[in-house]
Amino acid sequence: MRTSSLSFSSRAFSPLPRCRACRPGFFRPLQPQKRSFQRDSKQAIPDFAFAFDIDGVLVRSAKPILHASMTLQFLQRNSIPFILLTNGGGKLESERVKDLSEKLSLSLDTSMFVQSHTPFAEMVHGEENLRDKCILVVGGEGGRCRDVAEKYGFTNVVTPGDIYAAHPEISPFSGPFKDYYRSFARPLPKPINPSSPKDSLKIDAVFVYNDARDWGLDLQVIMDVMLSHQGIMGTVSSKNGDTSLPNSGFLQDGQPRLYFSNPDLLWAADYHLSRLGQGGFCAAVGGLWQALTSSKNHPTPRLYMKVIGKPYRLTYQFAEKQLIRHRDELFHEKAPPLKKVYMVGDNPESDIKGANSYVSPHKVEWVSLLTRTGVYQDREGHRPNHEPRAIVDDVKAAVQYALKDSNWHESLE
Ligand code: G3P
Ligand code: MG
Repeated sequence: MRTSSLSFSSRAFSPLPRCRACRPGFFRPLQPQKRSFQRDSKQAIPDFAFAFDIDGVLVRSAKPILHASMTLQFLQRNSIPFILLTNGGGKLESERVKDLSEKLSLSLDTSMFVQSHTPFAEMVHGEENLRDKCILVVGGEGGRCRDVAEKYGFTNVVTPGDIYAAHPEISPFSGPFKDYYRSFARPLPKPINPSSPKDSLKIDAVFVYNDARDWGLDLQVIMDVMLSHQGIMGTVSSKNGDTSLPNSGFLQDGQPRLYFSNPDLLWAADYHLSRLGQGGFCAAVGGLWQALTSSKNHPTPRLYMKVIGKPYRLTYQFAEKQLIRHRDELFHEKAPPLKKVYMVGDNPESDIKGANSYVSPHKVEWVSLLTRTGVYQDREGHRPNHEPRAIVDDVKAAVQYALKDSNWHESLE
């Protein structure tokens, strides 16, 4: 996947105009909830900090991983700053933080937390000025991702469930989900009205906030939008397949942009083997696009999409800014410059690759540490695709490694 010179990674290759939201440093973290944190002023201030991945390092789905709680409690007792940096999402930052605080018996707050779709909050007022535009938000439980998008400031949010509740014929095999959709669907701002496109529902941007629950409906709706005339539901662009146009006429007719928040093909859940993540859904979107648009008359047209999340630079840049802000708050701006961040993750394709490739504008060295508690598992004669500084058993071993590497005076037993 090519990472464009901008922050978003362009899976596609279109000379799409650069959106302001892509500009590095554009994103400002959500306003953190203030945290009461008393530090013993005699304690030395560390010039290092941590970024912890969540799934596969701290928890497996709902269950804390051994040593995770005691390790982070040690860091808080020693005023060693850390943030949680996850490709997960699907609920408000404040909700997830509360949930993790209870699970790990810690006092966490949103100033030390970055999840997959957090950066989308800044697109409300980005170049496209999407605040009042009609956005399709895909993924997550029920209407929870709509709640997140509205909390970010989007005012006109539609979900595939809303579309199905109004037009069940759009997805012939989603009948078993009927009651589920009825439980959270809202009336559409406009119906799908193919006979009068100007009165039909028009989608101005598509965001995949979290993993799809009904791939059938979600894939169908995304394809409908990307093949439509200007994002107008119920229409098909007359330019599709016109080989006299760039990209054989596909996506040349004002169709909306498609954003994904998490590229993880696999992630570590409760099951002992890694499970398909949002990157799997994205691959299904790409495969369907290819099947629907390929023809003997032209090469497979490209599907333009923007992907954020680890391993991409935007996410690490956003996380570093959040960590520096959190650290300054912790030490009341009296801290020496941050020199090193230990990124502790379980997935070489996201956590390790991202930390290894990130070039900090603050000259902070990011050191990747790979645990054996999630996606990565030792295999005879195999090394991870992205080489970490060290491979360790778990998050406790990762912190022990880092404390030694940074000559910290306290040890973690
Ligand atoms: O959906 C969550 C999964 O993609 C992995 O999350 O916390 O390991 O980045 P995390
Ligand atoms: Mg993980």
